[in-house]
Amino acid sequence: MKALLLSGGSGTRLRPITHTSAKQLVPVANKPVLFYGLEAIAEAGITEVGIIVGETAEEIREAVGDGSAFGLDVTYLPQDQPLGLAHAVLIARAYLGDDDFVMYLGDNFVVGGITDLVDAFRAERPAARILLTQVADPAAFGVAELDAEGRVVGLEEKPEHPRSDLALVGVYLFTPAVHEAVRAIKPSWRGELEITDAIRWMIDAGRDVRSTTISGYWKDTGNVTDMLEVNRSVLETLDGGVDGTVDDASEIVGRVRVEAGATVTGSRVVGPAVIGAHTVIAGSYIGPYTSIAGDCRIEDSEVEYSIVLRGSSVSGVRRVEASLIGRDVEMTPAPRRPAAHRFVLGDHSKVQIAS
Ligand code: DAU
Repeated sequence: MKALLLSGGSGTRLRPITHTSAKQLVPVANKPVLFYGLEAIAEAGITEVGIIVGETAEEIREAVGDGSAFGLDVTYLPQDQPLGLAHAVLIARAYLGDDDFVMYLGDNFVVGGITDLVDAFRAERPAARILLTQVADPAAFGVAELDAEGRVVGLEEKPEHPRSDLALVGVYLFTPAVHEAVRAIKPSWRGELEITDAIRWMIDAGRDVRSTTISGYWKDTGNVTDMLEVNRSVLETLDGGVDGTVDDASEIVGRVRVEAGATVTGSRVVGPAVIGAHTVIAGSYIGPYTSIAGDCRIEDSEVEYSIVLRGSSVSGVRRVEASLIGRDVEMTPAPRRPAAHRFVLGDHSKVQIAS
């Protein structure tokens, strides 16, 4: 069995954080979302992974390399244009050969991995197995309709009037039967070859398509609330440990990971939390469910239930909560009178002021 990991795409960004980078590399607990997918694939006992790459190919290659760090053998499959998930299967035909495969969307996050699913698929080998989950906003997803026995009877991509709240999760299991389907379908109203249409084609052709409903699923929606929540749930499973340095005037409470080269001085850090490599925490409070990436500086500040990306500094700010702070951001108090807020905010930024 192989894996097809989709990390191309139209460059639609998780705004404003990814105006400049691949959405699959947005970190959760200081690790790119894509890496969780690679780890889940490796854990399921799959070693051969084809990664579909598009305009952010360089960045993805730099982050993943040849896959050996994950125990995987990675082959990059360039896709000239993001013409759809079924198009990705089309162009991967030679790579996939006649193997069964799991298709995994690189911007999806499935809590608990995919090992059980892959094992069950290997044993049963229906033509396809899809994953479903209940969501509050089904119109933003592919939506499935099940009959009383739980069989998939309808599938629609981003329907205006969803017939259920069961969304397609971005993990699909296929036998080679899918190849005939992706060749047979036509582009949708949004100009893409939809995997949803290919699966519906398989159902209509009488193929055995089964579904599993899961909980514990997240997909980037540009929604900061969701990102903070998935960060929280991953930090819940964190192993603490200090590889950096913590001075005697600091207190570490609960599970906190202090990565190599990080220093914590005169501070209180309450886990679960992660402090990235070469980050400096000085005279500050870092509260639960916080991920501070590498090369940051948090000084004389309080940060809780937040994500801070690489290279940012927060100095003299009380208190930051439920926030997503991008890369190389500087936060300081306004230096002069009048005591006004001063901003340089990127496109699509959102600010809430306690005043
Ligand atoms: O996340 C689950 C949803 O994923 C499903 O509910 C939908 O049925 C399915 O169509 C898909 O919806 P999106 O429109 O949100 O997919 P998106 O364009 O975000 O692409 C998902 C991933 O696949 C992303 O990592 C980019 C990559 N991709 C996408 C396209 C269209 C490619 O590598 N090549 C492509 O041509």
